[in-house]
Amino acid sequence: MAAAHLSHVDDLFEGRRAELVPGGGHVRILASVRSVRPATGDRGDLRDGDGLATWWLARGEDQLPPVGEWLTAAEHSRAAGLRYTKRRNDFLLGRWTLKLAVARAFGWQDDPAVLARVEARPAPGGAPRLYVDGRPAARGVSLTDRAGCAVCLVAARPGKVGCDVEIVEPRSDAFVRDYLTEPERRAVAAAGPAGDKAANLIWSAKESALKVLETGLRRDTRSVEVTVAELNPPERTWSPLEVGTTEGAVFPGWWRQSGPFLVTACWPGGGPPPAALEAESPIDTMAPSHRWVERPVT
Ligand SMILES: CC(C)(COP(=O)(O)OP(=O)(O)OC[C@H]1O[C@@H](n2cnc3c(N)ncnc32)[C@H](O)[C@@H]1OP(=O)(O)O)[C@@H](O)C(=O)NCCC(=O)NCCS
Repeated sequence: MAAAHLSHVDDLFEGRRAELVPGGGHVRILASVRSVRPATGDRGDLRDGDGLATWWLARGEDQLPPVGEWLTAAEHSRAAGLRYTKRRNDFLLGRWTLKLAVARAFGWQDDPAVLARVEARPAPGGAPRLYVDGRPAARGVSLTDRAGCAVCLVAARPGKVGCDVEIVEPRSDAFVRDYLTEPERRAVAAAGPAGDKAANLIWSAKESALKVLETGLRRDTRSVEVTVAELNPPERTWSPLEVGTTEGAVFPGWWRQSGPFLVTACWPGGGPPPAALEAESPIDTMAPSHRWVERPVT
């Protein structure tokens, strides 16, 4: 992909003008990103001629229903085997969010019997593979959770996609030095008071890319480099980013802030921003929760 040394980029998305990260060096802007139009949310209207179409859904742990018919037998036993509250909650919240997202992306009802048809099974490296009625389903999916909030990304067709949610929280100098590349470190330094936001955003986009690569943190986090078009776009809108690998691959992506929550997503070839599966997302009014601390073991 061609790299452009630009100070401003017009009309990246929704006619907004994108400011580049100050001092962050050049930012590569993809032609496919420029041509993006907001997805309508109407699942029937989504075409992937301009890249891969995806949908997203978030759920908070306050919304999680009790263990019940919505789980498969295998999920029931997996949950029962998780003794630590955090791991069990994370597992259940992630599964429930994925089931809802997939059901809605297919245009199905989200009653418990339908949700039980949908399952994410881990590939050997941990990446989720979508199954419906016990058979592999032709959709890429990615899952993430942080501080009581889970997010699922569902793709319109098979493919490796990655999403990640983080909160804006303090990140040490050592974290930035050890896990970020030199241009990323400069971007964090140039962000000034927004340095923690920049560090968490870059970290999140790295995790999204490492999920696309299906290595997770087995791979050096400095082998993927994040560029962000604009560090302070309006909240609750998707804004472009890009992740490049040392091998030369490029994953165009998107990020979105809701208060303390940062959500990132990327995939090879890019595409329109993830389309919402509901009019308003609960993440937009959610507070980070660490309730498991009160009762660490079930
Ligand atoms: C992928 C990884 C970076 C995500 O870390 P995280 O921030 O703690 O967790 P998130 O909530 O954002 O994502 C977790 C989800 O990522 C997905 N995931 C796990 N491994 C994955 C991989 N190799 N590729 C793509 N997705 C992966 C799973 O769906 C997982 O949820 P699940 O286990 O309930 O299905 C991390 O789990 C990892 O590096 N895994 C592989 C190596 C490993 O297990 N290392 C041990 C820790 S270093």
